[in-house]
Formats: sequence, C-alpha cells, structure tokens
Amino acid sequence: MTQGGTTQPMEPSTAAPTSSGEPLVVVQDLVKYYPIFSGLFKRHIGDVRAVDGVSFVINKGEVFGLVGESGCGKSTLGRTLLRLLPQTSGSATISGEDIFAKRGKDLKQLRRRMQIIFQDPVGSLNPRMPVSDIIGEGLLAQADGTNQWKNRKTRDERVGEYLEVVGLRRDYARRYPHEFSGGQRQRIGIARALALSPDFVVCDEPVSALDVSIQSQILNLLLDLRREFGLTYLFIAHNLSVVQYISDRVGVMYLGKIAEMAPVERLYADPRHPYTVALLSAIPDADPRRRKRRLVLKGDVPSPANPPSGCRFHTRCWLRTQLGDPEICSTEEPALRDLGGEQFTACHFAERINPELIKVAAAGQSLVDTSDASDDAEPVSAAAPSA
Ligand SMILES: Nc1ncnc2c1ncn2[C@@H]1O[C@H](COP(=O)(O)OP(=O)(O)O)[C@@H](O)[C@H]1O
Ligand code: SF4
Ligand SMILES: [Mg+2]
Repeated sequence: MTQGGTTQPMEPSTAAPTSSGEPLVVVQDLVKYYPIFSGLFKRHIGDVRAVDGVSFVINKGEVFGLVGESGCGKSTLGRTLLRLLPQTSGSATISGEDIFAKRGKDLKQLRRRMQIIFQDPVGSLNPRMPVSDIIGEGLLAQADGTNQWKNRKTRDERVGEYLEVVGLRRDYARRYPHEFSGGQRQRIGIARALALSPDFVVCDEPVSALDVSIQSQILNLLLDLRREFGLTYLFIAHNLSVVQYISDRVGVMYLGKIAEMAPVERLYADPRHPYTVALLSAIPDADPRRRKRRLVLKGDVPSPANPPSGCRFHTRCWLRTQLGDPEICSTEEPALRDLGGEQFTACHFAERINPELIKVAAAGQSLVDTSDASDDAEPVSAAAPSA
C-alpha cells in the first residue's frame, strides 16, 4: 500500500543525498550535455543529455559503485568530475574545494589528487612507450622542486616502487605493453594512477575487459591498495556482481540520472526501484540447477538526446505495467527521495515493490486488474533528501 498518498507533483531534488561518514567528494546537480550540430552551418539542434542532474556524496575511504547499462552516462560522469571534460552545469567539491573553479597551478595540484584507471588496459597504454615512461609521464608532468621528479633517477625509482606495489617486478619497467597479459597491463594502469599519490580514484570499468579469473585478483588488489593508501574510489561498472563485491554504497544510473542509491547490502537485499530489481534479476544464478525467471525490460534504452517525459524509465517499467500504467509515471519526474537507512529512490511507487509482485511480473503475468488500476495507483509522498 501507499504511504502518505499525495498526488502532488514532486520537484527533483537539488541537495546531494547524504550518508554517514566524512564527505570527500560532494556532487550537486551535475549536468553534462554533448551538443549535437547539423548542416553546413553547424547549427546546434539538440544535446545528448549524458549526465542530467546527478547528486551524491562519496565519503573518505569509501568505495562508491556506479552501475547501469552501457550509454547511461557513467564514464561521462567520472570524466567530468575529474575535469577531463567540461561540465555543463552543477557543482562538485573535493575536501570542500570547488573542483570546477580551479585554474593554473591549483588545477595541476587537483589533477594529482584525482586519478583515473581506465577500462581498456590495451588502449590506455601507449604501445610505443616502455612502462618506465608510461608511468613516468604523469610524474614528469607533476614535477616540482619538492618531489624532484624531473630527475630521471628519482622518477625511475618511484616507477619501480609502484610496480612492486601493484605486484609486478621492478625490472618490468623496461618492457613494452605488448609484453604483458591483460591483468598485468591493468596493474600497470593502476601503478600509473597511484604513483601520483592521489586520494580519489575513478575506476572506470577496470575489470570489464579482463577474464573472469583475473577480475577478482584486480578487485582484491584495488581493495588492498585502498587500505594501504587510504584511497577513496568511484567504481564504475555495468556488472552488478562486480559492484556488489567491491562497493560500500551503490548508485544505479539510468539515462543520465540516479535511479536508486543505497548501502550495498541494502540495495541487493531490498531494491526499491524497478530498474534495480530488473538488473538484479538478470544476474545469473551460481547454481545452474536453479532456473531463475528473469524480469525482461521492454524495448531498448531510449536515446539520451530525447529522454522520455516524466519518469525516464516509464517506457520500460514492469512496475508501471503491473500498476495499470498510472499517468503520473509519464507526466511527473520522480524526485530522488529518502527512504531512510541511506537508501534513496526515484520512483513514485517504490513502496509497492514486493517479492510477490516481482515473481508475477517475471512470469509475464499481472496481479492487478489493469482495466481501472491507474485510478487506484497513488504515488507515495516524497520526503526531500536531507541536505
Ligand atoms: N564525445 C561524445 N560526443 C557525443 N556523445 C557522447 C560522447 N561521449 C559519450 N556520448 C554519449 O553520451 C552517452 C553516455 O555515454 P557514456 O558516458 O560513455 O556512458 P557509459 O559509460 O555509461 O557507457 C551515450 O549516449 C554516448 O553515446
Ligand atoms: S515512477 Fe513509475 S515508471 Fe518510474 S520507475 Fe516508478 S513505477 Fe516505474
Ligand atoms: Mg563507460
């Protein structure tokens, strides 16, 4: 049943949802559009709304997982945060300092604090450079009077140190990327990021291109390094099992927005957004004898250049179908609202989700007489996320 029972439209939240802990990175209403130009005169005809108003907090020492289908804006979000792409609007701070306001020397210092590990360990390492230069390049760019990284010997010493940190041999510094396996190349990518002593690292699908047998080694390495160096991660993946393994809290993204956010155990045990439920139902069961019915999402992911009205998920939502297509789903954008226990969801009907309904929907049946169910379906009132 619904709680509160108001049908008032809800404004999307503007405050970054909080969680207990000491915030390191605070992102508020972050927007990143890619403009679309057309014709001879390159007229601006629209935008790909890759990230469209995202707010969250990452606490010191935390792994914040970001999960969602390909194209939902995860990489754009990570790169915008690191100043690798210019933001369209919104704000972000690290230790209270404005990330987007930094210029010149301050920006250079900021870049050292915030590093990225890329998905593709082959494409992200220059094949013509030996490992010493691949890792040394960043050190050289950040050289100053204090660290003496302009000095080749000092630099090489540090490269060797960080190769050992990621479980490789010092003498590998002389080798070229093609001489390594996929897992080793990803270790080099990690060494390159960590050699600059960052405190915040965006891991953009760091294990997606690796064999399953190697994935857990790299995930465990990342967890060990977090402990050893006091790191904070934004960990991006499209695979929910990977995110579950490594994250403390998880944000589920859909078409440029956060659909749900919660501590990892809570998200997996009691998902409160139909999109999260569908993603979880797609995880294969470890026991092949147990055949699991999957919730199949309708149609393709809509284009972020022209997202659906109201709730962006409404064109594919199984819960909306079960409730008899309530109008509010296509007319009012659901706010990311606080459900308590650090769980936030952007669904008008989150409280209607229950195991019975999920089972019925997965079987392709309906619990509701859909003939007049839309009158009956009342959205739940939104308590604005606390600032
Ligand atoms: N440089 C770009 N120019 C225009 N559109 C882009 C660019 N990079 C990404 N996009 C689009 O932005 C959306 C989000 O992409 P991305 O951030 O790469 O998603 P994800 O990492 O979740 O797969 C996609 O629709 C993608 O096609
Ligand atoms: S608001 Fe409506 S369409 Fe959106 S997720 Fe909830 S039930 Fe589905
Ligand atoms: Mg990506």
